[in-house]
Amino acid sequence: MREFVLYSRLGCTDARWSNLHDAGRLDIVYECAVASLFLSHAIRKEVVFHAMLNGPPSPPLHLKIEGLTLHDVRTDVDTWAKILKKVLSGKPHPGISLSKTSFEALVKAKAEQAPIYVLEEGGRDVFEMEIGENSIFVLGDHVGLPKKVEAYALRYGEKISLGRKPYLAATCITVLNYLLDRRELSRK
Ligand SMILES: C[S@@+](CC[C@H](N)C(=O)[O-])C[C@H]1O[C@@H](n2cnc3c(N)ncnc32)[C@H](O)[C@@H]1O
Repeated sequence: MREFVLYSRLGCTDARWSNLHDAGRLDIVYECAVASLFLSHAIRKEVVFHAMLNGPPSPPLHLKIEGLTLHDVRTDVDTWAKILKKVLSGKPHPGISLSKTSFEALVKAKAEQAPIYVLEEGGRDVFEMEIGENSIFVLGDHVGLPKKVEAYALRYGEKISLGRKPYLAATCITVLNYLLDRRELSRK
């Protein structure tokens, strides 16, 4: 299973907002969810996307989206604004769940299942590493990971780099999905 964990410093934890950008940059959550879970005309069944929302009014909130059971979605921003508003107001959507799990608790639990990789420009070059299909990737939002959060994740994982240029979080996910897809194909 590929899993992506986005740490969102300010992502709103309720549904009282009018657009994703002003909701503590939930637009980044949307972009990362689409980059994680979608192929052209298909959902990646083997991917789970987590957004750890730490914005007002009641952080933390763990938004989990599972490709295996995700339904009734498209990739456009309006669809996702509606879905996120619905879920954050307590209504269900197939494949999406909310819990009060903290980032620290999630990382600790996941570290028992698969290697954890913390995305950061200064980390070890991804091309020098053997990254397997069962991996957990941790990313920061537009500001990056808070130092304390990064330090906690590094108790369980290691830093990896996609190069020296700072990419959008969603671009990093697209690149990782691509690299893992290519490795999977070359093994067949
Ligand atoms: C838009 S970047 C944040 C940039 C922010 N200025 C910083 O210093 O972290 C969002 C996240 O994408 C990941 N990221 C961006 N570029 C990367 C790269 N070249 N290699 C690895 N991870 C990267 C990091 O996890 C980062 O926290």
